[in-house]
Amino acid sequence: MTRAIYPGSFDPVTNGHFDIIERSAKIVDELVIGVLNNSSKNSLFSVDERVSMLKELTMHLPNVTVDSFDGLLVDYAKRIHATIVIRGLRAVTDFEYELQIAQTNHEVYKDIETIFLTTRLEYAYISSTIVKEFASYGGDISHFVPQQFMGHIYAKYGY
Ligand code: PNS
Repeated sequence: MTRAIYPGSFDPVTNGHFDIIERSAKIVDELVIGVLNNSSKNSLFSVDERVSMLKELTMHLPNVTVDSFDGLLVDYAKRIHATIVIRGLRAVTDFEYELQIAQTNHEVYKDIETIFLTTRLEYAYISSTIVKEFASYGGDISHFVPQQFMGHIYAKYGY
């Protein structure tokens, strides 16, 4: 049985993340979405809010669970007996950083493999950072995030 982790900040979850979730859920037995609980990072959504949005979004996927973690990804992977890390690649610019993380993680935990899924072209430009930037000015984020979370996001900026 292959258990994979799809780790990330998901602040907030985007359509690009959702696409990677649906596609990776088809290729592994179990997918755990691991929301990074990074207290030093100034997050728009609390970790509980992010977990709850992801749970709502993945309700229809029986082999997907949502959890949060802090500390090193490799330690979390060992703890939950996951052997695969899933990461999405949007462009070459993502690759350098992702390669470094994947190699480091593999070096310190030989059982862990990172699988990269390339983002669908229509989502290649989307990032949580762009979503927040647009939303902070009241811009249209309807193409970037799941419809049901648009209100939550705008509300954070007082719209
Ligand atoms: O969505 P993000 O912010 O690009 O996700 C980055 C994430 C959470 C995958 C990465 O920062 C991570 O794994 N953090 C946990 C701490 C860790 O293991 N760092 C070592 C990387 S070499």
